Amino acid sequence: MQRTKIQILAGLEQSPGQVLIKGWIRTRRDSKEFSFLEINDGSCLANIQGIVNQDAKGYDLVQQMGTGTAVSLTGNLVPSPGKGQKWEIQVDKIEIIGACPENYPLQKKRHSDEFLRTIAHLRPRTNKYGAMFRLRSVMQFAVHQFYRERGFFHLASPVITGSDCEGAGEMFQVTSLDPTREKQDISQDFFGQQANLTVSGQLSAEMFAMALGDVYTFGPTFRAENSNTSRHAAEFWMLEPEMAFCDLAEDMDHAQDLVQYLISHALENCADDVGLFAKFVDKSLQGRLDVMMKQDFARLTYTQAIEILEQSGQSFEYPVQWGIDLQSEHERFLAETYCKRPVFLTDYPKEIKPFYMRANDDGKTVAAVDLLVPGIGELIGGSQREERLDILEQNMDKAGLHKEEYWWYLDSRRYGSVPHAGFGMGFERFLMMLTGVSNIRDVLPFPRTPGSIDF
Ligand code: 4AD
Ligand code: MG
Repeated sequence: MQRTKIQILAGLEQSPGQVLIKGWIRTRRDSKEFSFLEINDGSCLANIQGIVNQDAKGYDLVQQMGTGTAVSLTGNLVPSPGKGQKWEIQVDKIEIIGACPENYPLQKKRHSDEFLRTIAHLRPRTNKYGAMFRLRSVMQFAVHQFYRERGFFHLASPVITGSDCEGAGEMFQVTSLDPTREKQDISQDFFGQQANLTVSGQLSAEMFAMALGDVYTFGPTFRAENSNTSRHAAEFWMLEPEMAFCDLAEDMDHAQDLVQYLISHALENCADDVGLFAKFVDKSLQGRLDVMMKQDFARLTYTQAIEILEQSGQSFEYPVQWGIDLQSEHERFLAETYCKRPVFLTDYPKEIKPFYMRANDDGKTVAAVDLLVPGIGELIGGSQREERLDILEQNMDKAGLHKEEYWWYLDSRRYGSVPHAGFGMGFERFLMMLTGVSNIRDVLPFPRTPGSIDF
């Protein structure tokens, strides 16, 4: 007989009779003549209850079947009298596939997130992390679906690069030289020059937008920023659309479309898994997601935001003044207290933004955009790109970049340059927003953060 996944059972209108289930025991309760087993196989949040009576084959071993034991069971699928479950199984035969001794760390029902981080290899077996990583997978696919429906092409931008897109110097170096040797000669290294793990696929995406029109890259991104916060990881996933013939306003329209599409996809397709977070992790989640779905995101310029912060009467740890890089306390005030919904901030001072952003006519600001979201802070960072060769070259000079190394990037402005725009959305920050989970370590399968690379 073929194994049926528990996820399939919920959708059945009629019992097929006999079913074969394979999974792990979550709990076992014994009465005099029966044992009740709650089985989960990871395919969905729900368990299936198996009722094993004394006549069932394998009943004699049931006392050895504790939490975590992998089992296979066959039996009749019958409507369940229990609340909240459609079916249960009257077990005819049960076998142990893998035993699980009592020192299994997930015996208790509830564990702290901190403890579960120390057993990141086992935590996907809990309800909460099972739900998280199913959601993560479904959302990953939804991203591709969103772009396919809109005629975008996916680009797998390289993970190893020779450039620093953000110019922040926060790169992990890739080398095949022996680090214990005293003299390191970079010209003898694998690529004959310094190579890094990418901090953003944007520069590659721009080249492809000039060829295919609308593209996106979606993959792992690496940053060696030593900020040990709940929102930064050294390895995270970034989604980066890049659109030819697109300005900043259209860039924002697109970002709002994307975020709303992904939320509604999650609510429609993963109601149980999202529901777990709304019930146990963040009681205000459903309300927040509703607001995000139904209302347009607010739009403010950086200059307006500074005025709002200055007049807010709040005492911030970092003083507010035109020209500062906004701190997360400022961003959160704007999104959570002032706008009470996601807000696009645009037109930042050019001094605090990278070289590729398009200069505005005021001579002071660039066509940058950040999307700030209640509870999260910055979800998206993007811009219209500087498509004018002469201005771009001036910017690179000012930023101290070696133009020769970016000859290929500059070619896109030499040959048929067009206005274009894009952004990067941190995929983990999106998942935090979708679930109310407050630490980025808890939305990554195996988080990489400063000083921590177990697993
Ligand atoms: O604002 P950032 O640095 O923008 C870029 O890299 C642009 N090149 C993107 C583009 O225009 N194509 O990063 C984009 C987003 C941030 O808004 C944030 O959500 C996420 O990436 N992010 C991080 N997420 C987790 N850990 C980190 N260390 C992150 N750094 C950025
Ligand atoms: Mg940013």
